[in-house]
Amino acid sequence: MTEEILTAKKAYELFEKDWDNLKDLNLTNLEEAEFGLKTLIEIRNKHTGKKSSFSSLMKLIGQVSPEDRIAFAQEVQKLKTRVEIAIDLAEREIKSVISEFKAAQESKDVTLPGRRPRVGHLHLLTILRQQIEDIFVSMGYAIEDDREIETDYYNFEALNIPEGHPARESQDTFYTTEGFALRSQTSTVQIRAMERHGAPIRIIAPGKVFRRDTPDMTHVPMFHQIEGLCVDKGITMAHLKGTVAEWLRRLFGKETRIRIRPSYFPFTEPSAEFDFSCFKCSGTGTFEAERCRPCKGSGWIELGGSGMVHPNVLRACNVDPQVYSGFAFGFGLERMCALMYSLDDIRLMFENDVRFLEQFR
Ligand code: DAH
Repeated sequence: MTEEILTAKKAYELFEKDWDNLKDLNLTNLEEAEFGLKTLIEIRNKHTGKKSSFSSLMKLIGQVSPEDRIAFAQEVQKLKTRVEIAIDLAEREIKSVISEFKAAQESKDVTLPGRRPRVGHLHLLTILRQQIEDIFVSMGYAIEDDREIETDYYNFEALNIPEGHPARESQDTFYTTEGFALRSQTSTVQIRAMERHGAPIRIIAPGKVFRRDTPDMTHVPMFHQIEGLCVDKGITMAHLKGTVAEWLRRLFGKETRIRIRPSYFPFTEPSAEFDFSCFKCSGTGTFEAERCRPCKGSGWIELGGSGMVHPNVLRACNVDPQVYSGFAFGFGLERMCALMYSLDDIRLMFENDVRFLEQFR
């Protein structure tokens, strides 16, 4: 065998060495397959490109002695073709693996049900508050909002709560170090609103209130109240009863009845507490042959306090009690929510456990 043929065999051996590296590739994912294709292109450039040893061998053909020339040329051609075929076949295979991976990655099953984006919703207290607000707005009431940190004057004095009254005790009310009170009732907004707008006035004031209660199933130190106030010429207790009856009917249904019981609040005279006939047992006290839960079998649910605005309160707001009279009422939202949804523990409303909250959309 001539020396030239040996050189051709050498060139082929060099190719085989690189080719062996390709065998170690495993084409089990797209990344590997793309890497394989890159390696293959490098091998092609190196062994069949212009600067490859095969190209230089082709150029050598003319210089080989005439008797060896044909054999040499045939050998170079044969080996070069073998290299090219091997590379072409491998390229086809890797490319088809790549396109399979890509197809699998991109294919979409159009029959799959769509994925709904998770959307939030309002908190159950907000939903109830808005329902009540809508009812009062439709009856001509404005919604009033005011501060949660109050002076002693607005939290107590203007509301005719005298010095020494138990509500003023620091056991019941949170005070800041500067002596401000976190409002313990939304009744403070009655004063603020009358100072701002005078009479006549018709407002409801929903908001947070704070009391020094140890949290348990029925108490939390921050909860919500809705306050109502209506002051005009000739307002009587009948208007109070009619208004309360109307909004509860709109909330719980036409057949809802209300009753008022004498009570005492410093800022109203006379004062009354109001109850409504149970929405679950329609006031019968029995539901599905058992003692009704929300009303504890009484048929009535106690809701809030109310009364005719005390003349001292009107006077504190520069409203003349000789000309104007009014009624006011207030009640807690958490209690109402707990009754409506049969919740034993009002703290659930503040724990922000989505599994609980999601039930009330
Ligand atoms: N502020 C009272 C409370 O927190 C509720 C209340 C009673 C509000 C009588 C009123 C009212 O406006 O007239 O218990």
